[in-house]
Amino acid sequence: MRPSAAWLLLLALPACLAAPPRPVYTNHWAVQVLGGPGEAARLASAYGYVNLGQIGNLENYYHFHHSRTIRRSTLSSRGRHNFLRMDPKVKWLQQQEVKRRVKRHVRGDPPLIHFNDPMWSKMWYMHCGDKNNRCRSEMNIPAAWQRGYTGKNVVVTILDDGIETSHPDLVQNYDPQASYDVNDNDCDPSPRYDASNENKHGTRCAGQVAAKANNSHCIVGIAYNARIGGVRMLDGDVTDVVEAKSLGIRPDYIDIYSASWGPDDDGKTTVDGPGELAKQAFEYGIKKGRKGLGSIFVWASGNGGREGDHCSCDGYTNSIYTISISSSTDSGLKPWYLEECASTLATTYSSGAFYEQKIVTTDLRHGCTEGHTGTSVSAPIVTGIIALALEANPSLTWRDVQHLIVKTSRPLHLKANDWKTNGAGRKVSHLYGYGLVNAEAIVMEAKKWKKAPTQQVCIGSSDRTPRDIHADQIVRTTTVTNACANHYDQRVVYLEHVIVRVSIEHPRRGDLQINLTSPSGTESQLLARRAFDISNEGFKNWEFMTVHCWGEKAEGEWTLKIHDTPSHMRNPERRGEHTLLSFWIVTSSPCHPECGNKGCDGPNADQCLNCIHYSLGSVKAGRVCVSSCPSGYFGENASRRCRRCQKACETCTGRGRNQCTSCQRGFYHHQETNACVVFCPAGFYADESKDVNRLQTGQKLCLECHQSCKKCASDPDKHILCKDGFR
Ligand SMILES: *[C@@H]1O[C@H](CO)[C@@H](O)[C@H](O)[C@H]1NC(C)=O
Ligand SMILES: *[C@@H]1O[C@H](CO)[C@@H](O)[C@H](O)[C@H]1NC(C)=O
Ligand SMILES: *[C@@H]1O[C@H](CO)[C@@H](O)[C@H](O)[C@H]1NC(C)=O
Repeated sequence: MRPSAAWLLLLALPACLAAPPRPVYTNHWAVQVLGGPGEAARLASAYGYVNLGQIGNLENYYHFHHSRTIRRSTLSSRGRHNFLRMDPKVKWLQQQEVKRRVKRHVRGDPPLIHFNDPMWSKMWYMHCGDKNNRCRSEMNIPAAWQRGYTGKNVVVTILDDGIETSHPDLVQNYDPQASYDVNDNDCDPSPRYDASNENKHGTRCAGQVAAKANNSHCIVGIAYNARIGGVRMLDGDVTDVVEAKSLGIRPDYIDIYSASWGPDDDGKTTVDGPGELAKQAFEYGIKKGRKGLGSIFVWASGNGGREGDHCSCDGYTNSIYTISISSSTDSGLKPWYLEECASTLATTYSSGAFYEQKIVTTDLRHGCTEGHTGTSVSAPIVTGIIALALEANPSLTWRDVQHLIVKTSRPLHLKANDWKTNGAGRKVSHLYGYGLVNAEAIVMEAKKWKKAPTQQVCIGSSDRTPRDIHADQIVRTTTVTNACANHYDQRVVYLEHVIVRVSIEHPRRGDLQINLTSPSGTESQLLARRAFDISNEGFKNWEFMTVHCWGEKAEGEWTLKIHDTPSHMRNPERRGEHTLLSFWIVTSSPCHPECGNKGCDGPNADQCLNCIHYSLGSVKAGRVCVSSCPSGYFGENASRRCRRCQKACETCTGRGRNQCTSCQRGFYHHQETNACVVFCPAGFYADESKDVNRLQTGQKLCLECHQSCKKCASDPDKHILCKDGFR
C-alpha cells in the first residue's frame, strides 16, 4: 500500500504545492526619468538602450529596449543595467516580465442548465439534455438566459381561444391586465371547457411563451419571467369588430400580441385579410402602442401547405405590421403544412410528419402535452424570443424588432431549393424568410441597436403596360424609379418592406403567378399557382408584400411579371385584365450618410455595404464607414480602408516607415525622410521647438544642421562636429 500512497502524493505535489512558475524576463525596461524626453533620450543613448518613447499617457515613464540582452530569460539582467539604475535622473526602473494571459471567452458549450420541470428534457428545440439525441440547440435560447434575459417586465398577450389562468405553470406569470374576453365581453379570458377540449390552443401557446421555470411543473417558457395574458376571441363569431377589439387591447400596457390564426387556409376561395377596423387597430398599435414605440404583432404564417395555399393570400401575414413566422421540422425539412410566401420573415422549429418530434407545452385542465404542432408553435416561440430582446432593450420600435430578426436569423441546415442571396448579402427563402431565429444573437444585437430612422414611404406607379392577360403569356411591367431618392436629401435608402398593390380580373384566380424583381435582381414570388382556387373574383386592390429586398437599394428598375398558366383550356385568347393601382409602395429609410452606393441593411455606420470614403475596423470586430481615418491610420485609396500607420507615426500617408507626416510623442519627425526617429541622424539636430504651433501639437522635428556641420545641437549653428574642411 505504501508505494501507491507515495505515488499519489507525488502526483498531487506539482498541482497544488509547487512553487509559482519562475518569471520570464524580456529585454525591455520601463524607466521613470525626471527631466523630460530629452533627458530620457540622453540616458538611453548613454547606457546603450533604444528609447521607444513614453509609455502611453504615463508622463516621465519611458520604454527602453536593449537589443544586446537576451530576449527571454529566466534570470533578470544585472551588471550594466545597474548603471542605469544608479543614474540620479532615474527614479525607478523595471525589467519587463512575460505575463500569462488568457482570453476571456467561454470555452466549449455553455454548461447545461438543469431545471426541475419534468418536461424540460423533452424540449428538444431548446437544448441538448442528456436524454435527447435529436435535439436542436441552434435557436440559442438558454444562451440568451445565461446572458441574463428571461423576459422580466415584458408583457405578452395571446390572441386566441382563451387561456387557463389557474394553470400551475402559468398562474405566477399570469397578468389580468393583459387579458380580456372579447367573446363574452368580460375580463376573464378563461377558456370554455367541453368534452373535446376544443379550446386548448391559447393555453398551449401561452405556456410556450411564459411558463414558469423550475417549479417542478410541465415545461420552461422561453420568456419564463415575462407577464402573460390572454384575449379570448376565437371562441365565437370572429368579425372585424372582434379582431379590431382584440388587436387594440391596452396597447400602452401590452408589448407583444401573439396570434396563431388567420383566414381559412383552404387554398380555395379565401383571399382575405384584416377588415377596415382591424387595419385601423394595427395602425393605431404601431403608431401609438408601447408609448409610441409600436405594438409588436407576431403571426403564424399559416397551415395551408397541403391545400396548396400561399400565405400571400392571407392579409395578416402579408401585412408589414405583423412579423410572420414559418416552421421547419427537427431535421430541417419543410413540414407538410408550410405555406410559402415572400412576406415570411423568419422560422422556428416545430412539428413535422408523425415520426418527427412535436412541441411540449402546457395544456388545458392543468395538464401538459407533447403534441403541440404547426405554425401555431412558431409564433409563440418568436414572441418569447422578442420578449427577451425587449428586456435587453425596452426602447426597440416595431421596425427595430423586424430589423433585428432579419439581421440575426440564419439559414443553417434548413432545406429549401430557393435560398438566394439578396442585394444586401442576406440569404432568404420563400419557405423560411431569413431562416432560423437566434435568441442569443438577437438579445446581443438588441442591446447595442440604435433606432432605425423614420420610416419613409415612396409610391411609384407603372408606366404604360399591357393590360390584357393572355393564356401562357407573361405580362411584364417595368418601371425605372428614383421615387425614393427624391423623397429626401440622402442619396441612398435601403428597403424594408415592398408592397405591390394590384387589381386583376380573371376567370380562374388560381392560375395566376406574380413575381417581382428588384433593381438588385432579387426575385420574389408574390403569388404562386394555387391549384384549388377556382374563384373568378380576381384580386381587388390586393396588396402583396415581400421582405426579400430588405436592405437593398430602392432606385432602379423594378419588374412585375404576371403569368397565366391555364389549368384546363389551352388557347391563347385574352383571359383577364389587370390594373396596377400602384406598382409598389416602398417603405424604406435612409442609410448612414457615410454609406456608399450599394446601400445598407440598417441605419448605422456599421451597416453600410460599402463606404463613400473609408471603412475602419475588421469584419470580426465590426466595420464602420468614416469620412476620414482617425489618428494613427491612413486612408488607402485602392481598398478604401483605413490602415494602421507605422507604430511611431501619429499621421501618415502610407504604411512605410518613411510615410509619416507627424509622430507620436517621444519621437522626432525627420522631415527629409518622413520617418519618426528617437534620435536625429547625422547632419540633423533635434528641435526642442520654440515654434508655438509645434509646441501646441507636441510635434518635434529633426532639422537640418548648418551646411558646415556634421553634427550639431539644438540650433543649426551650434557645431559639435564640423564637416571636413570647416572649423
Ligand atoms: C432548479 O431548482 C433546483 C432545486 O429544485 C436547483 O437545484 C437548480 O439549480 C434550479 N435550476 C436553475 C437553473 O435555477
Ligand atoms: C417566379 O418565381 C418562382 C420562384 O422563384 C419561379 O419558380 C418561377 O418560375 C417564376 N415565375 C416566372 C414567371 O418567372
Ligand atoms: C490617394 O489619392 C490622393 C489623390 O488622388 C493622393 O493625394 C494620395 O496621396 C493618395 N493616398 C495614398 C495613400 O495612396
